[in-house]
Amino acid sequence: MRSVCRSEKKGRRLGFVPTMGALHEGHLSLVRAAKKQSDVVAASIFVNPTQFGPNEDFSQYPRTFERDYELLKNEGVDFLFVPAVSEMYPRGAVTWVTVEGLSDKLDGRSRPGHFRGVTTVVSKLFHIVEPDIAFFGQKDAVQLVLIRRMVRDLNMPVEIVGCPIVRESDGLAMSSRNAYLSAEERKSATILNCTLREIKQRFDPGERDSARLLSAGMEIFQQEPGARLDYLEIVDPETLDPLPAVQGNALVAVAGYVGTTRLVDNL
Ligand code: PAF
Repeated sequence: MRSVCRSEKKGRRLGFVPTMGALHEGHLSLVRAAKKQSDVVAASIFVNPTQFGPNEDFSQYPRTFERDYELLKNEGVDFLFVPAVSEMYPRGAVTWVTVEGLSDKLDGRSRPGHFRGVTTVVSKLFHIVEPDIAFFGQKDAVQLVLIRRMVRDLNMPVEIVGCPIVRESDGLAMSSRNAYLSAEERKSATILNCTLREIKQRFDPGERDSARLLSAGMEIFQQEPGARLDYLEIVDPETLDPLPAVQGNALVAVAGYVGTTRLVDNL
């Protein structure tokens, strides 16, 4: 992959879209952004075992390679990297990339080791593909914060672009994990976005106190018996520390379980 990317690049701008496959419109929006902002586009499909906890869904994670391949080809992706686990993690691999102090917040608190797996695999993919610019979804907002910080701290010569969340018509953020939801759960899942919308509705006319904004959101979330809250927080979008009040930029992030499926959303 490295030699193909190097030889085909020939001074052109190489865009990269890393994915775990099970592609949906959210991923395709990343590819379209990459096509607009780069001359050559590479993508990867790799269900990365190190970002799944021992009781998480690594083995059940949807794998739809034939369909993904067609979708990427139709979008005009030039190179697709689909490594085996043994290629990415040769026996005896013990080196990790950890964004200290951020990797254990929000999703990292509920999923110990998750972000260490993400930042390690993304840095490995960057070393292999050597992109000039890489595209990630804003849906995984915390992941995006950590990747930006890793790139800055380790002087990686890659520009990181965050692309807007793509939603279903009822507001549910697109996610490969939505495929796990039964029809009943699919209805319950909209509660994440309803919660965020309630917070925005209080924020727009002037409420700035985080505790009041969060309790308004919480009240909405609790109306859905089919969902269990993991966290609802208003944080500084760089440090991920809770903000007592919203004065400048803020990230409102929610995570919850619908049945056994863990979903995230943010604004
Ligand atoms: O967002 C994802 O799909 C994954 O976390 C990523 C960035 C491809 C790393 O495995």
